Amino acid sequence: MARYPSKLYGITGFPLGHSISPALQNWAFQERRFPGVYLAWPEPPEKLGAFFQAVRTLPVSGGNITIPHKEASIKYLDHVSARAKSIGAVNTFFWRDGELWGDNTDITGFLGPLKGRSFKSALILGAGGAARAVIAGLKEIGTPEIIITNRTFAKAQELAAFFGAEALPWDERGKPRADLIVNATSMGMSGRQEDQNPYEESWMRGREGLAYDIVYNPPQTLFLKAAEASGWKTENGLAMFVGQARAAFALWTEGLEMPREAAMQKAAGLLGL
Ligand code: ATR
Repeated sequence: MARYPSKLYGITGFPLGHSISPALQNWAFQERRFPGVYLAWPEPPEKLGAFFQAVRTLPVSGGNITIPHKEASIKYLDHVSARAKSIGAVNTFFWRDGELWGDNTDITGFLGPLKGRSFKSALILGAGGAARAVIAGLKEIGTPEIIITNRTFAKAQELAAFFGAEALPWDERGKPRADLIVNATSMGMSGRQEDQNPYEESWMRGREGLAYDIVYNPPQTLFLKAAEASGWKTENGLAMFVGQARAAFALWTEGLEMPREAAMQKAAGLLGL
C-alpha cells in the first residue's frame, strides 16, 4: 500500500542545475514504496550554516552534499564516518539516534565496479575531490602502488603526501606501467572538454589493464575509446554514480536496496545516454 510522503530528503550544492539525483532518488522511493521525497536545494557557500540549521529544525531526514560543500559541511554535523574522515569530505548525511552523521559514499560507488579485481599499480589522472575518493578506495582494497599525476603538480604532491602515494609530473604520465588507469579529471566530459583525452592510446599499447573513467557523460569518452582500441577493459562513471546513490539510499532507509540494474537504466535514461 502506497503511503503519503512523510520524510524529506534532498541535495545541496552550488550550482545544482545538472543533478539527476532528485529524479533517481524519487524514483527509488516509489519503487521501494518508501514514504520519502527528495528535492534540490542549491545553496551558496555563505548560506551553508543556515541550511544545516534548517535541516535540524524542519526536520530533514537526510540528503546529499555536492560541490562545493563536501568539505565545509563537516563542521555542521555531529559525527562523520571513518571513511569520510579519511578524505575530509562528506557527500551524504543521515540521522542515527537523534544525531546528524556524515558519510562518503563516493568511495563505495567507485569500488563497486572493481569488486573481485585487484591491481598491482594504479595511475590516477587528476588531483581534485574526485581523485581523493578514488585514492581512498584504492587504499582500502590494498593497491600496493598508487601514482598520482596532475596538471598542477603541487596538488598531486599534496595528495600523495596525504595518502602515502607517489606524485608524478603530468608530462611523464605515459611512463608508468600501471594496470589500472583512472581518469579523475574533467577532461572528456560533455561540453567544452569533450574533445580532450588525458591519456594517449600509444601509452596503453603492449600491455593489459583496466581504464576507468569517472566521467559518465558521454558514456564513451576519448580516453575509453583509446583504451578499447588498445585492448584494455573499460569502465565509465555511471556505475560509480549509481553506486554512491544506492549506498546513500540504504543509509536513509535503514538498509532498503535501490535495485541496481533498474537504477543503472533509470540513470542512463535521465542523462539521455
Ligand atoms: P573534482 O572535484 O570533480 O575532482 P576539480 O577539483 O575541479 O573537480 O578537479 C578537476 C581535475 O581535472 C583537476 O585535477 C584538474 O587539474 P588542475 O588541478 O591542474 O586544475 C583537472 N583538469 C581539468 N582540466 C584539465 C586539462 N585541460 N588538462 C589537465 N587537467 C585538467
